[in-house]
Amino acid sequence: MTSHPQIPTSLDPVPQLDLAMQYAAIGAEIRTAVEQVMASQQFVLGREGTALEQEIAKLCGVAHGVGLASGTDALILALRACGVQAGDEVLLPPFTFVATGSAVSALGAKPVFVDIRPDTYNMDPAELARRVTPRTRAIIVVHLYGLPADMDPILAFAKTRKLPVIEDNAQAIGASYKGRPTGSLADACCLSFYPTKNLGAYGDAGMVVTNSAEIAARVRTLRNHGQSAKYLSSEPGWNSRLDEIQAAILRVKLRHLSNWQRARQSHAAEYNRLFSQIPGVMPPLAPDGFEHVYHQYTIRIEQRDALHKFLGERKIGSTVYYPYPLHLQPLYSALGHKAGDFPHSERAAQEVLSLPMFPELRKEQIARVVETITKFLKC
Ligand SMILES: Cc1ncc(COP(=O)(O)O)c(C=O)c1O
Repeated sequence: MTSHPQIPTSLDPVPQLDLAMQYAAIGAEIRTAVEQVMASQQFVLGREGTALEQEIAKLCGVAHGVGLASGTDALILALRACGVQAGDEVLLPPFTFVATGSAVSALGAKPVFVDIRPDTYNMDPAELARRVTPRTRAIIVVHLYGLPADMDPILAFAKTRKLPVIEDNAQAIGASYKGRPTGSLADACCLSFYPTKNLGAYGDAGMVVTNSAEIAARVRTLRNHGQSAKYLSSEPGWNSRLDEIQAAILRVKLRHLSNWQRARQSHAAEYNRLFSQIPGVMPPLAPDGFEHVYHQYTIRIEQRDALHKFLGERKIGSTVYYPYPLHLQPLYSALGHKAGDFPHSERAAQEVLSLPMFPELRKEQIARVVETITKFLKC
């Protein structure tokens, strides 16, 4: 008997993310790359890591890349390399993954929140002047969901105050702002290769990329126990080295990234086309000159929690990124914030919902997601 590939039916689950499909397509390439690392028996700080640093720096349009153990470490070490110390203040949006804030706290510095724009979910440059103080030492900008933040006014503000700007580019590798890639837009840029990211490792990994030879050298020293020469440490550092197996896997996946990115962008265009007929759903915005790479395809809808449940009951995956803005997290209760302090972040936390989005998603699956949302709105 001939076996036929399974034909998807309209009732098959639609996951929010399906990494198994990606592995099915590239597994052979991955296994070869991992096998080569095994054969070399070089597991830390070897040729794969160095090659990946160069390739990612090139993609981001900058001179240097320093491979690290995670995106969180990238933030901590970039902040350190930019001179942030205990007692300093760092400006950042409260509507982000907690790591953006906890990296600041890890250095004993204080996160000072700057509300977002309600249409892009990224830092509102007009809010910076209200939050800056004489103790401010840096700004972290997050390119949330894959959309670059509005960098020009942020950089102009930072220049007047002589503040370094760090891009938290965990979610937007490959995106661009007015023709310039994210990663090249500020003093230093932090990447996460957490498995679910657009370029994801098979474990934790991260990188700092920068045009500054000084910042790159500092991060390189800090990631390896503050050693300026072998067994000679000039300052306290970390062990935050990117391992060779992850670097080799990431190099394989990097070869596919632009195709995957195009697929994400085409899925987003299809969602947008279908949602344009449906009042009550706000699709993601990508202003002119801002290239969105759709790490997430995130809609906004007032009845968010009910929709999330409705989709789940019909086996359609969706996720809330993020249900609690940082200023209302128990972690930051000592900062004394209350509901109402950052209204746009709070409203976004109540209304956003990320829908299925991954390169292998099919047109009929997108249609099913949108049809189901249409049914929900009619209920
Ligand atoms: C916006 C943002 N910042 C920082 C991080 C931290 O990266 P990692 O999980 O690699 O430490 C992540 C991802 O998890 C993220 O989404």
